[in-house]
Amino acid sequence: MAILDIIKVPDPLLRRPSAPIERVDGALERLVRDMFSTMYTAPGVGLAAVQVAVPRRLLVMDIVKAEDEAKRPIAMLNPEIVEIVGDEVRVYEEGCLSIPDVFADVERPATVRVRFTDMAGKPAEMLCEGMLATVVQHEIDHLNGKLFIDYLSKLKRNIIIKKMVKAKRDDATVD
Ligand code: NI
Repeated sequence: MAILDIIKVPDPLLRRPSAPIERVDGALERLVRDMFSTMYTAPGVGLAAVQVAVPRRLLVMDIVKAEDEAKRPIAMLNPEIVEIVGDEVRVYEEGCLSIPDVFADVERPATVRVRFTDMAGKPAEMLCEGMLATVVQHEIDHLNGKLFIDYLSKLKRNIIIKKMVKAKRDDATVD
């Protein structure tokens, strides 16, 4: 298993919509395993393939954070929100492995139904509530080139992007 590099804002790939996955093969299975190791190591609760520079419609999640609890890994291929269930919303202070050290409240539907293809290549559906609803919507956004900072005001977003550009420049100077 490998820990993959996570690309960061302002990498333009993060703005590119990802292409559908057409089949489950050995290479895809390896990618999913590597994405889980990368996510657990980061640590994070969700990761979209585009964040490891593979612009395909694939995401992994595990919202179980505590060390002593059994992991609950979920991988979704070509996920789509097919229904917003009810009109309850949930506000959560989100972060993103591609935008380190930035956290902001984002409001999203509290319950969504997601249709996807599982790792056996079979169609599946999952009712996502609470934290899982927040994470799945955040990750599906990645597949569409959207970031959680897009829900903030333009002013706030620009301040964050400037900070990220500067951080990248400072990194480059150190190298
Ligand atoms: Ni993210």
